[in-house]
Amino acid sequence: MSLPFIPVCEPLLLGRELEYVTSAVSKGWISSSGPYVHEFEKKFAEHLGVRHAVTVCNGTVALHLALVAAGIGEGDEVIVPTFTMFASCSAICYTGAKPVFVDCERDSWNLDVSQVEAKITSRTRAIMPVHIYGLPCDMDPLLELAKRHGLVVLEDAAEAIGSEYKGQKCGAMGDFGCFSFFANKVITTGEGGMVVTNDDAHAEQLRYYKNLCFPLKGPRRYLHEHVGFNYRMPNTSAAIGLAQLERVDDYVERRRENARRYTERLRGQRGITLPAERSFAKNSFWMYSILIEDDFGLSRDQVMAALGERAIETRSFFVPMHQQVALRDYGCDVGGSYPNSEHVSPRGLYLPSGSGLTDEQIERVCRELIALAPVS
Ligand SMILES: Cc1ncc(COP(=O)(O)O)c(C=O)c1O
Repeated sequence: MSLPFIPVCEPLLLGRELEYVTSAVSKGWISSSGPYVHEFEKKFAEHLGVRHAVTVCNGTVALHLALVAAGIGEGDEVIVPTFTMFASCSAICYTGAKPVFVDCERDSWNLDVSQVEAKITSRTRAIMPVHIYGLPCDMDPLLELAKRHGLVVLEDAAEAIGSEYKGQKCGAMGDFGCFSFFANKVITTGEGGMVVTNDDAHAEQLRYYKNLCFPLKGPRRYLHEHVGFNYRMPNTSAAIGLAQLERVDDYVERRRENARRYTERLRGQRGITLPAERSFAKNSFWMYSILIEDDFGLSRDQVMAALGERAIETRSFFVPMHQQVALRDYGCDVGGSYPNSEHVSPRGLYLPSGSGLTDEQIERVCRELIALAPVS
């Protein structure tokens, strides 16, 4: 008999998604003009406690749009953790600027803020902290450093919807915060993203560039002064987003509860490193991630394959940016030493983490994982 499959993550669509989408479709509001776009932006801004939220069509372009609105382009440098998802760097490359890499901390897997200052040059314009897997990066020293050097801070909060740093929502602390609503995120619109800011002028730039640089005021004369982008989110997606946002606190709590159960069950297992805790952090646990250390007895890839055979889906950690051929060929400096990223990347995986995971599923994942360790 085949075992029931446990996916690494599935969207939960338990609220008013269908009702809102049906309303949008029945009234014909299926493109980016429509009431749900405005409502989703308004409610998302309220949720974050920021002045402006601007919808876009995915998280990658959210980052690009924010970089453009910050005036970043050719000849500029943007500091980014080497241990991140590739989209953080693609967005920087779209502007013509150069990503400059900093290693992660060994235990939190987040940007090592103490190494940032050494990477600042006369060309540095911005820092892009990434709240990896939902754990907030240590923002206070980073914001202080950025202020001292006059740098823009652009939070990549794609994985950190609902995460908090010292009581402040991730994405709400920098000059810009960027989110993804891909289907595996804590809330989803299928594909989608958001940029938030407290600065009125930045918000204008975001709205201007996301809509092909059509003039924001006055009649539409099809006369463009700048080259913009079509990064608009459809009203149908925003309808799903609004319904998801109504349940965000519940979804975050479910993910945190999953994490508590995993930690309880896996703590003390030889060869398994659990996610770090930080006193300043409320981790939304977008993904419950672990390292399979060398003394586990099997490699990370062997563990993933064995769990896969038992119908348990997992994902490996990101490959660091300094090891990416595309970024080397783009002209990034891939030299230097990144021992922490090189340690965690080949050893890390995330376990099933969706908001709808049951206690029985978590128990089965832990039981199977623990049973894989060879008896010594
Ligand atoms: C850290 C990070 N940044 C950016 C993105 C890009 O988001 P999207 O897939 O919506 O383009 C992701 C996506 O998962 C991500 O994990």
